[in-house]
Amino acid sequence: MKTVDKYDFSGKRALIRVDFNVPLNERFEITDETRIKAAVPTISKILSDGGSVILMSHLGRPKEGPEEKFSLKHLVKNLSEKFGREVKFADDCIGEGAFELSSRLKPGDILLLENLRFYKEETNGDHDFSEKLSKHGDVYVNDAFGTAHRAHASTAIVAEFFEDKICGYLIQAELVNADKVLKNAEKPFTAIMGGAKVSDKILLIEQMLDKVDNLIIGGGMSYTFSFAQGGKVGNSLLEADKVDLCKDLLRKAEEKGVQLILPVDTVIADDFNNNAAKKVVESDAIPDGWMGLDIGPNTIKLFSEVIENSKSILWNGPMGVFEFSNFANGTIQIAEAVVKATEKGGYYDQWHRVNHCAHPPLSS
Ligand code: 3PG
Ligand code: MG
Repeated sequence: MKTVDKYDFSGKRALIRVDFNVPLNERFEITDETRIKAAVPTISKILSDGGSVILMSHLGRPKEGPEEKFSLKHLVKNLSEKFGREVKFADDCIGEGAFELSSRLKPGDILLLENLRFYKEETNGDHDFSEKLSKHGDVYVNDAFGTAHRAHASTAIVAEFFEDKICGYLIQAELVNADKVLKNAEKPFTAIMGGAKVSDKILLIEQMLDKVDNLIIGGGMSYTFSFAQGGKVGNSLLEADKVDLCKDLLRKAEEKGVQLILPVDTVIADDFNNNAAKKVVESDAIPDGWMGLDIGPNTIKLFSEVIENSKSILWNGPMGVFEFSNFANGTIQIAEAVVKATEKGGYYDQWHRVNHCAHPPLSS
């Protein structure tokens, strides 16, 4: 894949897949612009070469068609301020008006397309939809690191329609870092995996099994593993169609001598909400009507000990619903343990080896 720094964008319209899936408050104001900032170097390089930019992204998970709260128009003001020019907006990513706008871009212009997921064709990876999107640009740039694990129209399929497919600075940096971690990992090497779904992380977990000494699994995805081991998960997140896969991964870990470590206790809630009633139970005994939303205190101790004794750590995904302050403790404590491991490592040049975060937050 070509990289942004080696490509001359002058006179070109660059169609860039960014990950502008940023949190908005009830007034549709951006509450964390980390992901926007992360895309600035790539966009700036293209503009300063004398190219123009068409930005495309998803925002949230709209169910069926357009929804006000998921409109990317809420980002226009922020982007216009950031780049010191009026950012144009197309309110339908493949509408006639959008093509009118993209065809008229002049060097230095920026056009933002409306949320790609207002079309189900985006997540379905639809061929025709991808081809339509491709008409917006002369070259394709992918800098959507946070969405790199999705084979969607705008992230994977659209690239087929371009001769010049270019990897943005953000993705490039993450690949270099990940490569460093994987190749030079000092042992013990521990991977911490979390987040809602096993299905998002299958490939990563499989790859990790060949590299790590310890694989810690927390967060929503741990319940499917627990269920696979015969545990009761109540109303927790469960991917029923991934239970066999979890069994398979557990078996592979054992074969490869990887210590796969799951939560031993869980903070459960009687509702999916920050103020729900909560209590701590053993991870394999979650009663019906209750759901696990964070790892429990014994799990924090267990995970932290492994982490603090590791020389290399790769972390992907939270330990619980950290967006709810009452269920953020597990994720925060694990971050503390990672910090301690980094401190023990001593030298600053060990940063990449000791603490690399391969999924958002992207700020580090
Ligand atoms: C994220 O926030 O994890 C990415 O933007 C991908 O979004 P998704 O999980 O809805 O595909
Ligand atoms: Mg996600």
